[in-house]
Amino acid sequence: MTKKTYYVTTPIYYPSSKLHIGHTYTTVAADAIARYKRARGFDVMFLTGTDEHGQKIENVAKAANKTPKAFLDEVVAEIKELWDTMEISYDHFIRTTDDYHERRVQIIFKKLYDKGEIYKGQYEGLYCTPCESFWTESQLTDGKCPDCGRAVEHAKEDAYFFKLSKYQDKLLELFEKNPELLEPQSRVNEMVNNFIKPGLEDLCVSRSSFDWGIPVPIDEDHVIYVWLDALSNYITALGYPEAGADDFDKYWPADVHLVGKEIVRFHTIIWFAILMALEIDLPKKVFGHGWILFDGGKMSKSKGNIVDPVVLIERYGVDALKYFLLREYTFGQDGNFTNEVLIQRLNSDLANDLGNLVSRTASMIQKYDAGVLRGALAETAFDADLKAVATGALAKVDSHMDNLNYSGALEEIWKVVRRTNKYIDETMPWVLAKDAAKADELSTVLYNLAESIRVISVLIQPFMVHTSRKIWQQLSITEGDLTAYDTAQTFGLLPVGTKVLKGEVLFPRIDVEEELAALDALHSAPQAETLEIKPQIEYDDFAKLDFKVATVIQCEKHPKADRLLVLQLQVGPEQKQVVSGIAEFFKPDQLVGKKVIWVANLKPIKLRGIESNGMILAAEKGDKLVLLSADIDDGAQVS
Ligand code: MSP
Repeated sequence: MTKKTYYVTTPIYYPSSKLHIGHTYTTVAADAIARYKRARGFDVMFLTGTDEHGQKIENVAKAANKTPKAFLDEVVAEIKELWDTMEISYDHFIRTTDDYHERRVQIIFKKLYDKGEIYKGQYEGLYCTPCESFWTESQLTDGKCPDCGRAVEHAKEDAYFFKLSKYQDKLLELFEKNPELLEPQSRVNEMVNNFIKPGLEDLCVSRSSFDWGIPVPIDEDHVIYVWLDALSNYITALGYPEAGADDFDKYWPADVHLVGKEIVRFHTIIWFAILMALEIDLPKKVFGHGWILFDGGKMSKSKGNIVDPVVLIERYGVDALKYFLLREYTFGQDGNFTNEVLIQRLNSDLANDLGNLVSRTASMIQKYDAGVLRGALAETAFDADLKAVATGALAKVDSHMDNLNYSGALEEIWKVVRRTNKYIDETMPWVLAKDAAKADELSTVLYNLAESIRVISVLIQPFMVHTSRKIWQQLSITEGDLTAYDTAQTFGLLPVGTKVLKGEVLFPRIDVEEELAALDALHSAPQAETLEIKPQIEYDDFAKLDFKVATVIQCEKHPKADRLLVLQLQVGPEQKQVVSGIAEFFKPDQLVGKKVIWVANLKPIKLRGIESNGMILAAEKGDKLVLLSADIDDGAQVS
């Protein structure tokens, strides 16, 4: 019989900045379901990767003084290292700069074009460069990009369009008939009422204003823009649309795309429509999880509230971090991250409940039965309930996992942990040990404790595999018959005579005050910075540059770009016009009368239709920008 397959994906990450625990959330969740499904006998394909094209990446690479490819190779290596540290068991890592992806996306584009699903037109709209998104006036928040809050600018250019509008009715019908395609349910209403019903516009799928993208196969002036490139990763990774795509035949349609709530729209409207246009099956489910918030807001580099997963792993271990993420937050909802919540959860569930259970049990088996299980030789009044709770957990975990309810699944397992701790209090082995006539009863209690711990160790495998392995070592069992997932339904599998070892403390208790102070100190410590210096040049190269002092005599906003100011400079006897991207930092009249340093001999260029002659020098750090100046008459030479 062929195995049932299970295909789970994470979004592909923008490698434009360091990943924080918010990013690791989707991946940890995908890892847990992948491990769980493997344990349940499925042939799993778990896909993750990086989304590497677009203006944003081009800009970030430029700022780091690197080519996009060189920049990306470094950050992608870091991301892979993070996933290794976190033991993310992905089966395939796709980079959208991989040859096969680029080739297959081009075929997809051509296919859609030939079918009349893509046409050439002109795009005019409000564009947010960092988010690479066009917005309509009504979508803006306070006139700014609704995703990142930054200024948007008018943009107009030739572009290819995907006929998204054509799919409006089909999408409405789809969600009406199959609401389970998207979870949680509240997100279905949001898609239908906020996006589909108000009307879908055709989607711009190419750009000609930057180069860092996959060339449009039929028009070398354009690159394929964002979503057609990024979303297609879910099928190009499987070989689509090339001949012999066995993985595609085997794994598609995906069982679930896990995505953050802000990209549900792209996955259930744009992606579904693209798949309909390609006439291939839709994924079985898209799950839009909530955000991990920090001080009530989304974690972001610009707000400086990034929580580094590596720091948390160094302090508490990878299992603790994974457990915390999946147990603390309800998968479909937002949740707040604080150090207090984290430490509290680790102390109560891991150090107290599970850690204590294992160490107490191992010590008692050492102390009372010389470290060897003698078996269930008698019975106590509490055994039946313990066994029922332990063996009944698996079915409940199964049903929670089928709904991607990770916290529910872990809560079920912790019911077994707590039930087992209670069993110790009920049976009081230290009292039984005082009475030689109770020796068999004592051994039974110890056996049942060890066996419950085995059941727990089997159930937690998909979430915290190291802890499972450490427990198996203590119980002298090797991975195999006694660790298979199904065995969690059977009580009494540990053989009589099994040696139980003391082992290390699984989860040390954390001193809350001390730890909070240590974490605060870490967060406020200045981040180590490296000074980036461009490659050395000859003096002759430098001498080619011509700098002069200039006075700003007039300054106004660029009519077509919110980011830009148009400055008129007096440079000795002459006037020059410069367009500068500093509108975010200055109001036009703040600059009039200021002395600036002007780069005189740059070739003129047009910025959004207005000629710019040279540029003015500025120093920038964080969100601060200062214009360079000199207290001397304009026209003075700077050298
Ligand atoms: N590149 C796109 C996805 C394309 S998929 C075809 C992208 N990348 S991302 O790096 O910005 O985000 C990746 C995922 O991380 C998203 O699902 C996003 O929701 C998730 N998270 C980023 N910050 C988060 C939190 N603070 N909390 C939870 N998840 C969040 O979007």
